[in-house]
Amino acid sequence: MRSKTDVCEYRSIVADIITNKDFLQTANVRHHDSTVYLHSLKVSLLSYHLAKKLGWNYHETARAALLHDFFTERRRDIDKASREKCSFKNMHGFSHPYTALKNSQERFEISAREADIIVKHMFPLTLRFPRYKESWLVTLVDKYLASKEVSVMLFRDILLHRYIKRLGFNVN
Ligand SMILES: [Fe+2]
Ligand SMILES: [Fe+2]
Repeated sequence: MRSKTDVCEYRSIVADIITNKDFLQTANVRHHDSTVYLHSLKVSLLSYHLAKKLGWNYHETARAALLHDFFTERRRDIDKASREKCSFKNMHGFSHPYTALKNSQERFEISAREADIIVKHMFPLTLRFPRYKESWLVTLVDKYLASKEVSVMLFRDILLHRYIKRLGFNVN
């Protein structure tokens, strides 16, 4: 955060989302190295700052980025069910942008730009080209932060694995 004004402005932009009881459930869903809630907040904050700096629509960018992963089901459960049905398109990686959009539209007023940001954030995996520059921004910010989070998680696992091994436990 650059200034107190930005903090206040950001909070007022996302106030109804961060106090919504269903959205708060995302704090119970593990995602990368933390939770969906924390990941979404990071993507939203960074996207908000960049969009503001670029003179783009930072209001809709901040809101849609916060909602881009609005799901509460466990990834493992979705993928297991998809495998059992042999339905590749229902795998979490492909289906969660649509779940996030549905969950968002059921609870908040979602503009065309916000819908595009949410549903296309997994581009190129979902094959549909982002329509707005703000959608491109959020998809890039999401990938940047997700790769950092996954790296931290892998590094932590490797260190933990080595430590357990050093203690003399058989971990192979
Ligand atoms: Fe996602
Ligand atoms: Fe994400």
